[in-house]
Amino acid sequence: MIAAHGAASIITTERSTITNMNNIMDFITALPKAELHVHIEGTLEPELMFALAERNGIRLPYASVKEIRDAYHFSNLQDFLDIYYAGAGVLLQTQDFYDLTWAYLQQAFIQNVRHAEIFFDPQTHTARGIPFATVIDGISQALVDAKNKLGISTRLIMCFLRHLDETDALKTLDMAMPYRDRICGVGLDSSECGNPPGKFREVFRRARIAGFSAVAHAGEEGPAAYVREALDELQVMRIDHGNNALDDTSLVTELVKRRIPLTVCPLSNIKLGVVNDMSAHPLQHMLDLDLLATVNSDDPAYFGGYINENYFAVAKALSLDKATLVQLTHNSFTASLLDAETKAARIKEVNAVAEIE
Ligand code: ADE
Ligand code: ZN
Repeated sequence: MIAAHGAASIITTERSTITNMNNIMDFITALPKAELHVHIEGTLEPELMFALAERNGIRLPYASVKEIRDAYHFSNLQDFLDIYYAGAGVLLQTQDFYDLTWAYLQQAFIQNVRHAEIFFDPQTHTARGIPFATVIDGISQALVDAKNKLGISTRLIMCFLRHLDETDALKTLDMAMPYRDRICGVGLDSSECGNPPGKFREVFRRARIAGFSAVAHAGEEGPAAYVREALDELQVMRIDHGNNALDDTSLVTELVKRRIPLTVCPLSNIKLGVVNDMSAHPLQHMLDLDLLATVNSDDPAYFGGYINENYFAVAKALSLDKATLVQLTHNSFTASLLDAETKAARIKEVNAVAEIE
């Protein structure tokens, strides 16, 4: 049995504004959480990037870990993606993918993540000549160890890179078929503008027939129409980000009615200029509209924080009360791909920590 992490001292859920920020970080840490939007390549910390570059004899265009961190200033999504894809170039061997994934899972454990749905981008690696098997073997061994050693349940979601064409995505789906039992869903990420969801209609159709769950990034930089298209043409069950859905009231009504979750990533939104200031973040507004919004880290090594730092940043900027934080963790399990019984069990655990009857 896993020991509880974090201090759940005197916790109440009355709707009071939070004044003691140390207390609120303890509260956030103590809450069991599901993380539903994290790119494994986006968890590559500069220290590990350096170590893997050395192990694999790769020269990095940075002289130090500090120099890498200093380079992490992005004015938009594409700016970030250029650096993120270059960073992933240090991942060559199965052991590298294992080390990357295991490092994330240890961090998730410390932050009391009980369930993680993890994206990976196979095309980033196969395009460099890394076999699909190398990528998935390393990642999935770490997921097995997470279950056995840390008590964290996981699901793996394979993303197609939307800046590439659908033929490439179809080839990737074919490569994934022998590993069907290890991959739970398909997703869509990378450069959103100019690459609408409809471009991937056929590959999503085939993936759904093969039994994969479907999710897609939409409405991060792209318009509300892309969120609509992801629903209609890709038949996704969850939207990653979804911020710009708020521009279309009939779309919001549909998202609410169908209980389509949004996996919101506050620190990412700030770092990529999707939201100008955390005090203007739409998370509270989403919850007020009854949207099934969740908090996630996206690419924590690049955006300055893992899941708890994301919860903390919005809690502080939007003065979220404890009941709202509890609601967000409930949402994280509700919106997950877990079965109904496990969802109910995890929500009960949240309530025990928050002292809700
Ligand atoms: N790949 C990694 N992070 C991403 C993001 N925030 N948006 C689109 N693609 C991504
Ligand atoms: Zn993302």
